[in-house]
Order: sequence, then structure tokens, then C-alpha cells
Amino acid sequence: MKKKWWHDKVAYQIYPKSFYDSNGDGIGDIPGIISKLDYLKDLGVDIIWLSPCFCSPLADQGYDISDYYNIDPRFGTIEDIDVLLEEAKKRDMYILMDLVVNHCSDEHEWFEKACEDPMGEYGKFFYIQNGKEDGSEPNNWRSYFGGSAWDKLPGHEEENLYYLHLFHKKQPDLNWEHKEMREEVYKMINWWLDKGLAGFRIDAIINIKKALPVENYSYPADRDDGLVRPQRMLKDAVGIGEFLGEMHERTFKPHDSFAVGEVFDVEKKDLPEFIGDDGYFSSMFDFNETIFGSSDKGWYDAKKITPDDYKRCCFESQAEMDGVGYFSNIIENHDEPRGVSRYIPEGECTPRAKKLLGAMNFLLKGLPFIYQGQEIGMENVVLESIDQVDDISTLDEYQVAKNAGLSDEEALKVVNFFSRDNARTPMQWTDKAQAGFTTGTPWLYVNPNYTEINVAAQEEDPESVLNWYKALISLRKNPEYKETVVYGDTVPVLEDTHNLMAYYRKGENQTILVIGNYQPQAQTVELPCEIEKVLLDNTKGVQNEYSELPAFKDGKLTLEGYQTIAAVVKEA
Ligand code: GLC
Repeated sequence: MKKKWWHDKVAYQIYPKSFYDSNGDGIGDIPGIISKLDYLKDLGVDIIWLSPCFCSPLADQGYDISDYYNIDPRFGTIEDIDVLLEEAKKRDMYILMDLVVNHCSDEHEWFEKACEDPMGEYGKFFYIQNGKEDGSEPNNWRSYFGGSAWDKLPGHEEENLYYLHLFHKKQPDLNWEHKEMREEVYKMINWWLDKGLAGFRIDAIINIKKALPVENYSYPADRDDGLVRPQRMLKDAVGIGEFLGEMHERTFKPHDSFAVGEVFDVEKKDLPEFIGDDGYFSSMFDFNETIFGSSDKGWYDAKKITPDDYKRCCFESQAEMDGVGYFSNIIENHDEPRGVSRYIPEGECTPRAKKLLGAMNFLLKGLPFIYQGQEIGMENVVLESIDQVDDISTLDEYQVAKNAGLSDEEALKVVNFFSRDNARTPMQWTDKAQAGFTTGTPWLYVNPNYTEINVAAQEEDPESVLNWYKALISLRKNPEYKETVVYGDTVPVLEDTHNLMAYYRKGENQTILVIGNYQPQAQTVELPCEIEKVLLDNTKGVQNEYSELPAFKDGKLTLEGYQTIAAVVKEA
């Protein structure tokens, strides 16, 4: 693997709508982000990924873009972005934006022109298609957000004319088979990269290749609605490499930019094409833990992940990427519940457990992405009613659960656990009104636990989760350990020990052991190595390096509940 400029960095995802509101309208904005750059710099962040803030009707919170070249007035102006880029540069920080090009908004002028003249040039930018002879949809694909992926083309309801939207009906899919459309996309990417962006996070990109012709690809239904999830079709959509390779050559490569793909379901054999030295992307998110236990039937049927599953998922991905490329590691993002509420068993979500989870994930090989609020241990919200939900995906899953026979209460509990809103509640800055996020009324409710969990309080507390994250970051950046933390091989240790997650990071002349007792009870283990120097210990505050070694007796190490240690070892 060739070394790249971004390998040793730390990345942070901002969900602009919920990060910091500078003008009191209840919606986070770019000036708000600029005002928090010093906070992020102080945390140790180098790369910032902004979820979309382009012009958008916000049907899917900005993942439905109506103008790729402009900023939605609710988030600020294009001049604000120029200032953000400048201010970031001053601080040696890099900005990534979200590249949403599987689809645009139905309010984008391309789609509006397509509706005016479906057989004209812009009609070809989309999948506009006759329905079946009986007037029904061209096939039985389900949209990711529920219901058919086909809707009647606006303005042509009397005709048998449909357009495809794998996501919401306000997100028509762009037709990547059409060269002129691809050219428009590359032009736009280059425009942003020339402006000074360091790169992109690439949204839903695996969907750009469809199984064609669409009328040949109906499948047996996977639910009672007679439809089939889009992932089924993707298995038959061969040849995505052509588009991804072209995009890479024409945009990211000449700019030496960073591109991280939101990609699910890539087979190991295809990984070198995706993230090898000259891959389509610089990196891809590791979603192995995220998708663990998911079910075709819906959230209500998902299996909960245990600490042992979590460990296995992490190790599987580490092995997969070994020698091929460099994954991006996450605990959560804007599409997922809060990681601490998901990966720490119910009732055990203490600051110490949060630190264990943070260390386990952060010290794996790969580029760590912190999602806003993760660094202070923000948790899921407890919903009282489905009326509180904003997220379209959660509303759909609630119906799916109810159709499967769950009561209102049971369905609410299920969707509460997985809801994307959990990650989207406003960032908790202080213990003042609205968690210091806005002086107005926030667009989404604040988690009531902000009085306890907030940045201001944690900055003051040397033992806080926030200061633990700072310590993890400074370990990654410490010249003495950096090579090992960034490039060392990951080797599982005591892999079969229940509720214990441990691994070596093996560098050239150094081995670091990361070990965590993933349960509330103490646990005694026989280590296959000798500890030389403890670098981090979540039972002892958060400063780096301890002279004191952990409790050994008869060659055995006893770890307290949720105790986590990172240490340099002499190997056995
Ligand atoms: C990605 C985004 C998600 C969005 C979807 C459609 O999965 O992360 O938030 O709803 O794509 O753009």
C-alpha cells in the first residue's frame, strides 16, 4: 500500500443542520461551523466532512440537491464556504463535502426540464420509462424509504410514464449511462475541487449502476407489499467499475483529492479495484458492524449486536483490508443511532464504557471518523410518540413494523432504537437553553440529557469522554507511536475470550496492545505478552503514559469492568 497524505489524519463529520446555529433560526449553519473550527482543531481534527448544505428542498435533509453550485440560504452562502475554506486552511485543516450524484432533487432544473420534455435531452438524464401494458410500474423495485421506486412523471399523470427513484420520490435517480449527464457531474466535482475542497464523501454511489433493461428485472417479492429491496437488483447490475474508474480519472486523481465511498456489499475480491493503490476511491467506510443483524424484513426483525459480535465484525474488516487499502472507521454517522446506545448493552452505558468503545474503534487500523457529539458520548433519545419523528426512513420503518403485527408501543420502541433522528438531534454545547445550539427554536428537539452531557462541562472535567478522545487523538499523532497506530498490522489477541476485545497493532519495531473488558464485571486474563509501558488506561484519567503497571498476579492481568488499556508490550 502506497502511503497517502491523509492516512495519518483524524476526520470528523458535521451534520450542518444540527451542529451550531449562528443566527437564531433554529438551523445550524456554515458561520456556526466556522465559529467552532478552533474547538475542532483543539480536539485534534484534521479533516472535516460536511453533510450536504447545497440548495435543497430538504425532503431528505439535503440529500436531495436542487443546485450543486450553491449553498442553501438556510445554511449560509457560497461566500461563507469560501471563508470556511480559508479559515480551515489557516489551521491546516481540510474540508470534504458530500457528493450526492446517484440522484438529485425533483426541484433541480434538470428534472424540471425532463418533465417539460421527457423525450428531450434532459429526459435522458433520468430513468423515464413506460409502465407495463396494464399501466402498472415497470418493475417491482422498492424504494429504500418504502413503497415503489417508481412514480408517475409529474405533469404526465394521465400517461403511462414513470421515473425511477431508489430513495424518496423527491430524489429522482440520475442516468449514469448517459454520457452528457456524467460530464455534468465531473464538471461540478472539478469546480468544487478547484475551489479548494480536499475531496468528497460519496453518497449512495453503489446505486448508480442499474440492472437494465429495468423491465427484465422484477423479482420474487421479499415482503407482503409485492416489492423487492433494491439491493437485489444491484447484484445483477454489472459494470459499475466503468463509471467509477472514469470519475476517478477525470476528477479525484488529477487533484490528488480524498474520496471516501459510502459503499455497502463489496466482495473481498473487488476491494483492490475500489480502494487499492489506484482504486476508484481513496477509502471506504467499514460498515461491517453497522449492518450486523439487519434483516430484509425491516428494523423490527433486526438482531441486536453483542460485544462478541462487535469484536468479530471489526476483526473481519481489518483482515479484509489487510494489504489492500485503508478503510475509514466509524462508530456512528447521520444515518445510524448513537454508537454508545447501540454497541454498549442496555443499562451499561457509562462514561467508562463509552471510552472503551471509543478506544476499541479508534485504535484499529484505518482513518477514524468521529461523528459530531460522539466525542462527548451523546446518546439515543427516548421517544414518547411517533409524532416526534422527523426522519422519513424511521416513519417508513414504523409502518413496516406495524404491518408486521407490532403494537404502536412495540413499533415505537423498535424504531426508536435505530432512528436516524438519534444522530440528528442538536449538538450539545452547554447546559443552557437548547444545549447552547441555538437561541431560537431548534428544528429538531434537543436530547434532554444535555444538562449532563455537553461540551462545556466535559472541557472542564479531565476525566470526561471528550478528554479521552483527545488523548486517543494525541496518541495517534505522537511521533513515538504514530507509525504503529497508523500503519501497524492488526492482530487479534485472546480472540475467543468472551466479552474481551484485544488486539495488537504491530509496527516495525514496536507492538501496541489494545485491550478492553467489554462487560461490567471484572475479568482476569492470561496475557501472551508482557506490558512495558501503559499509554492509556480509562480507569486512571486520560493523560498519556503511566508509570504504574496494571494489576498482575501469577502472570495474570485483572481488568475492572469496562477497563481499557493501550500499552506498549514486549512480545512473548
Ligand atoms: C445516503 C445518506 C443518507 C441519504 C441517502 C440518500 O445513505 O447517507 O442520509 O438518505 O444516501 O441520499
